[in-house]
Amino acid sequence: MRVGVLTGGGDCPGLNAVIRGLVRRGIPQYGYDFVGFRDGWRGPLEGDTVPLNVEAVRGILPRGGTILGSSRTNPRADSSAKDGRSGLERIKDNMATLGVDALVAIGGEDTLGAAAALWEAGLPVVGVPKTIDNDLSATDYTFGFDTAVNIAMEAIDRLHTTAESHHRALICEVMGRHAGWIALHAGMAGGANVILIPEKPFSMEKVCAYVEHRFQDRYSPIVVVAEGAHPEEGDLALTDQKLDSFGHVRLGGIGQLLADEIEKRTGKEARATVLGHIQRGGTPTAYDRVLATRFGIGAIDAVHDKAFGQMVALHGTEITRVPLAEATSELKLVSPERYAEAEVFFG
Ligand code: F6P
Repeated sequence: MRVGVLTGGGDCPGLNAVIRGLVRRGIPQYGYDFVGFRDGWRGPLEGDTVPLNVEAVRGILPRGGTILGSSRTNPRADSSAKDGRSGLERIKDNMATLGVDALVAIGGEDTLGAAAALWEAGLPVVGVPKTIDNDLSATDYTFGFDTAVNIAMEAIDRLHTTAESHHRALICEVMGRHAGWIALHAGMAGGANVILIPEKPFSMEKVCAYVEHRFQDRYSPIVVVAEGAHPEEGDLALTDQKLDSFGHVRLGGIGQLLADEIEKRTGKEARATVLGHIQRGGTPTAYDRVLATRFGIGAIDAVHDKAFGQMVALHGTEITRVPLAEATSELKLVSPERYAEAEVFFG
């Protein structure tokens, strides 16, 4: 059996650990051989491959990014059709030419959504959930999230000390397009003055009241805001209107808008820090390395069991399997109850 592997969408710490888990289990245990597809769905669309064997995965466990490269190429988009063949037909043809019998797609909502559609169209595919956003409903955790939260928490800790020295309000913008998990966890762990998430439109008046209250204690406020958060009054978050091939608007800029507004309304100096891709970079935490490794083992076991159309998932402490279609049908959002726990510490 020859297994193709691809990593799609935004990269995330732990992708290499999954690839290593697949290969280190699949070669000695099942006698499989592997083909790495470059840059997400672009690889199988164009038949662009890299060798993937035990030698290729030596030393990659602690490395961030992905040795296979990634992209946001959408195989279902019209732009993926060529010479009268749809994206799916091109992928099927290339897999046949390369002798690839099964595909492991490691990705988030978009990559796995495409995997689900390709499975329905007859492609033998197994999914592995990744995203620093932790917003896939069918798994308790995705790898990459713990690393991103720890990076953001450390940044918040550092912002605290400089905020104190200068009596400033510091705003820390973290990733999170639809779901505020990174903001919630990093903000709670870092002792934020207020946490703003996409799930709950915020009142600018309340945010300023929290900020002023913290200054009264002679303690400088840190506001943690997810990039997709927006105020009750309207949508301020968009810096540009560029769309990716899955139709998502590029976000960013809410931190600066908040800083400007806080400064205007409270008269206190307010400055914004945007963590951006720093949250996706560098070495994975121990938690993410272990989860990603277990997902890799679980995914190749699923291939061996011919459990195609499934995604590996974490439920409690167990690695389980869920149908790909179910895995991508609903986003996991922060519940009002979880947000209420964080609110205890606002102000
Ligand atoms: O989906 C993961 C993620 O990091 C989101 O939190 C963020 O909105 C998006 O990717 C950014 O994508 P890009 O790196 O393509 O701008």
